[in-house]
Amino acid sequence: MPFPDIRPRRLRRNPAMRRLVEETRLSPAELVLPLFLKEGLTEPRPISSLPGVVQHSRESLRKVAHEAVSAGIGGLMLFGVPENSSKDETGSAGLDPDGILNVGIRDLISEVGDSTVVMSDLCLDEFTSHGHCGVLAADGSVDNDATLDIYAEMAVAQAAAGAHVVGPSGMMDGQIGVIRKALDRAGYQDVSVLAYAAKYAGAFYGPFREAVESTLQGDRRQYQQDPPNLREALREVDLDVAEGADMVMVKPALPYLDVIAAVRERVNIPVAAYQVSGEYAMVEAAAANGWIDRERVILESLTSIKRAGAQITLTYWALEAARMLR
Ligand code: PBG
Repeated sequence: MPFPDIRPRRLRRNPAMRRLVEETRLSPAELVLPLFLKEGLTEPRPISSLPGVVQHSRESLRKVAHEAVSAGIGGLMLFGVPENSSKDETGSAGLDPDGILNVGIRDLISEVGDSTVVMSDLCLDEFTSHGHCGVLAADGSVDNDATLDIYAEMAVAQAAAGAHVVGPSGMMDGQIGVIRKALDRAGYQDVSVLAYAAKYAGAFYGPFREAVESTLQGDRRQYQQDPPNLREALREVDLDVAEGADMVMVKPALPYLDVIAAVRERVNIPVAAYQVSGEYAMVEAAAANGWIDRERVILESLTSIKRAGAQITLTYWALEAARMLR
């Protein structure tokens, strides 16, 4: 009778053995919670396509920041949502020290100090009337170099507000170098740059658009990456590292695990992944229908992203996952 000599099942026989041999272990410290701060709100407002996620008021933002610190999460990534009347062609509210994002950064810093890492999204799409990540040229395309000047100023404004890390997410060519130089020149050598190095122009960002009330005209395919391309992501990563990125990010996460793994092999700086709004919404929708075990799917997805090579994960479940992991 044939008999297996080698039995991998031995290492799976009970929870204690499985725990001992576990290769990937999540911890709250590697999770970053994205937060939306909406101008003019007095009460937090639910986002229907992101059940459980809200647009914060200044007060509720402080409260959740405090909870995040207590739960031990690694960082916060702040997005500002201006009133429609504050949006214009060039996204000037993003540069204004009293614009909603810079106000929010100051609030977060005064609430949490150095007890977690405060990051801010460095992009124009929340602030422009057309919803693009940069300013438009006469032909309607996004003007790369004109946008760079604005990003440089925006980075300095966010650093002045106290951001520990700025996260340029617009995918303009040269953005990391320009931002690094501007920060250094203004005396912010210690502010880090988390580069959204490989950001794909895919279809997983739908609910985010509702969260920031964006009215994107057209799409982002002229400046963000095409989903079929991997080598192009490595080229983008190489450039960002050469331009001074402190950390690089892949976005979205679960549909791009191969990209995360390849980037991890490529660089010696921390690799982050962004589990985006569409990834979150799919799980929440299936769970609401009783089709999947919500908590297990959340932890499995985060574990997979880490196993692929992400050392840091941005996820709307950060707070809840941190509590599950305790
Ligand atoms: C750009 C930015 C976006 C996200 C993070 N930074 C929007 C976009 O690129 O369309 C998306 C995150 C998500 O979908 O959860 N400011």
